[in-house]
Amino acid sequence: MSRHAATGVTWVDAWEPAAGAERAAAAFRARFDAEPDGVWSAPGRVNLIGEHTDYNGGLCLPIDLPHRTYVALRRTSAAGTPGAADAVVRLASAQEPDAGLWSAPLADTGPGRVDGWPAYAAGVAWALGAAGHTVGGFDAVVDSCVPYGAGLSSSAALECAVAVALDEAFGLGLADDDAGRTRLVAACIRAENEVAGAPTGGMDQSASLRARAGHALLLDTLDQSVRHVPFDLAGSGLALLVIDTKAEHRLADGQYAARRTACEAAARQLGVATLREVRPDGLDDALARIADADLPADVTRRRVRHVVTEIARVETFVALLDAGRVRDVGPVMDASHASLRDDYEVSAPELDVAVDAARAAGALGARMTGGGFGGSAIALVEVGAVDDVAVAVARAFDDAGFHPPAFLVAEASGPASRTA
Ligand code: GLA
Repeated sequence: MSRHAATGVTWVDAWEPAAGAERAAAAFRARFDAEPDGVWSAPGRVNLIGEHTDYNGGLCLPIDLPHRTYVALRRTSAAGTPGAADAVVRLASAQEPDAGLWSAPLADTGPGRVDGWPAYAAGVAWALGAAGHTVGGFDAVVDSCVPYGAGLSSSAALECAVAVALDEAFGLGLADDDAGRTRLVAACIRAENEVAGAPTGGMDQSASLRARAGHALLLDTLDQSVRHVPFDLAGSGLALLVIDTKAEHRLADGQYAARRTACEAAARQLGVATLREVRPDGLDDALARIADADLPADVTRRRVRHVVTEIARVETFVALLDAGRVRDVGPVMDASHASLRDDYEVSAPELDVAVDAARAAGALGARMTGGGFGGSAIALVEVGAVDDVAVAVARAFDDAGFHPPAFLVAEASGPASRTA
């Protein structure tokens, strides 16, 4: 964190990769009195558009942040060797110094066995093994500059950093190409869904493992196919301001799961595998066929309308990028926010204030990003207006009696990899 004297607002700076790696390595040496085999890292993400579409077979468009989670790791027993069944996982986090060392037999890292943050790390080892990619025991220390609880995928950054670390330490070779990385994504999703117990959709892990620097990742969650869409804001004199509202969101709580359940129930009513099958020109027909069930029909209709229109907005947004018209995406972002606020009902007062204040201060467009109920918003702003928009948002938060927000500037950065 740094407080820029000129503006008085708080900026969350990304660590230089070499510095992040050295922090994790130093913490590893202090904890285990040994050298790690290496340091691996993975980024958090912001989603440009396509929210709550990834568990509906839809499209989304995240970019990787320069903010990364670093994992220093040492293999302590080879996979599949005699005694491997006794392999042990030991974990520590520089973010949780009071939590001390977490330790468990590798065999006890599956669903129902791990609580708290270690689930996102140890769970990946379990999920890799469950998919036939056997790993052995290991020691690891984690450090991170991805803001926690800010809707910027600190969980996925941890999972994916552990995934690429285990991949190399145990010679799995999956991180070497996109097909293998897609399998790492699957393991990270299982860790999050089944071990950590958060029923998330997979966008975050795909972004962290499969995106490219300088590009947005157009992810089609129907078949996990991707297209790397050039995303060069600076060339257009623009910047993407991320506003961490500090209103902490929790994906493991009931609201996210309730939205997912509502979509699945709607798909069943409509006789489709996923809401992706409802196209915009068939939306009115589909809405007319929705009846009262666990939820009143009008609520389910609004949930469906968000998902179908949001998928269409991703297509519009990408078409504008492809046409070199990044300056014209603002209204699409605004429409996404309205839909998330009014139809999907996952915004929060802090997010609405952030978005409204950013627009009033000149942002071309703004929207909440990620799961919602708190977390972060993004605003597309002129490069020269970044500070002014941040100050205006901070002032609006003060006026509303909210905690001061924090800010970062997102540049499409690179995916999970070995750092040192
Ligand atoms: C969270 C989840 C993702 C996705 C978004 C909403 O970030 O982890 O899978 O569903 O919310 O788009």
